[in-house]
Amino acid sequence: MSFSRNILITGGAGFIGSHVVRLFVNKYPDYHIINLDKLTYAGNLANLKDIEDKPNYTFVRADICDFDTMCALFAGHRIDGVIHLAAESHVDRSIKDPFTFARTNVMGTLSLLQAAKRAWNGDWEGKLFYHISTDEVYGALQFDDTLFTETTKYDPHSPYSASKASSDHFVRAYHDTYGMPTLVTNCSNNYGPYQFPEKLIPLFINNIRHGKPLPVYGKGENVRDWLYVVDHARAIDVIFHRGKVGDTYNIGGFNEWKNIDIIKVIISTVDRLLGNAPGTSDHLITYVTDRAGHDLRYAIDSRKLKAELGWGPSLQFEEGIEKTVKWYLDHQDWMDNITSGEYEKYYEEMYRNR
Ligand code: NAD
Ligand code: DAU
Repeated sequence: MSFSRNILITGGAGFIGSHVVRLFVNKYPDYHIINLDKLTYAGNLANLKDIEDKPNYTFVRADICDFDTMCALFAGHRIDGVIHLAAESHVDRSIKDPFTFARTNVMGTLSLLQAAKRAWNGDWEGKLFYHISTDEVYGALQFDDTLFTETTKYDPHSPYSASKASSDHFVRAYHDTYGMPTLVTNCSNNYGPYQFPEKLIPLFINNIRHGKPLPVYGKGENVRDWLYVVDHARAIDVIFHRGKVGDTYNIGGFNEWKNIDIIKVIISTVDRLLGNAPGTSDHLITYVTDRAGHDLRYAIDSRKLKAELGWGPSLQFEEGIEKTVKWYLDHQDWMDNITSGEYEKYYEEMYRNR
């Protein structure tokens, strides 16, 4: 079968990557989508069960840091577009193990860039290296600061955000130095189905269901800006096809929440959907030692993306959170497969050591 494009999506077995793979496989049957993933603790092929047999989909298990394998992959599949999501993504893990973050996020990105440069060999026509980054590279806002724009100075604080900032700089360096067609986007916090339950929303939904404590870091006053994951995938589609090469776009839904407020929404939604009386699970809120270097507030200004490419979120938060809670409650088997076994041990140890 011949395809019009061969697109490499890295990290496609993870949370956001699985939504991007699903969207591209279903929407573009004439593209060959090659999902490259190492399947770390965060990678889960169960996230892609519904599309795994599609004729335009191929899964490759490999490590982006393995340069020889990346070169062979670019040549073998004649890759002409890259959407790079593979990364270590959890801030708490980066505080415990920064080397793994530098290896994957910095050296892994560099390995992919160099493999693309070698394969494309200066023929940039029809090629694109699109790097998915985060708002955390901009640092932390105070409550009265204006939102992060594309020109906000980088000021990362955690080992995770420092590694992502470094990878962003390498991508731009390949554009500026070698002329590689690149794009970088910086998105705010995503929520939705298939998120690994170490992150706030799925962790808390699952804990409420099991009557376990909800560990709120510090006073719960930190602010995050939440976007439904499918809207992020839609933005990636628009930017991949119509974004200005060499440019940067912020992605966000103008949807800021204090942690404690979003936690109360999650508790009341889970209780309602489980048929519990209002307030049943409120007592699970447990204030714990704050995350080291915990950024106070993130908030994304995505007006450029709206003005230039017409993208905006399709879901209001109330609808998105309802769908999300319902999805996790309806997919307890997906959750149980993750939370039994090794992950559970890791989680217990992490909280014992806090
Ligand atoms: P995730 O942790 O759920 O998934 C990461 C995926 O990358 C996993 O499937 C994992 O197996 C894979 N991976 C890790 N190391 C690899 C390696 N060395 N080689 C190949 N594959 C490897 O992460 P996510 O939340 O889906 O985030 C995806 C990307 O989006 C990341 O680059 C992250 O920085 C960025 N991002 C995330 C958010 C968010 O809210 N989750 C927001 C903005 C940007
Ligand atoms: O802003 C984008 C980033 O959002 C992405 O780049 C990261 O990959 C992603 O993990 C996410 O980072 P956060 O650190 O903001 O997400 P997390 O879900 O870990 O935490 C959200 C907020 O909730 C944060 O202020 C810390 C707090 N928190 C988190 C956990 C897991 C708690 O209070 N208790 C918890 O148990």
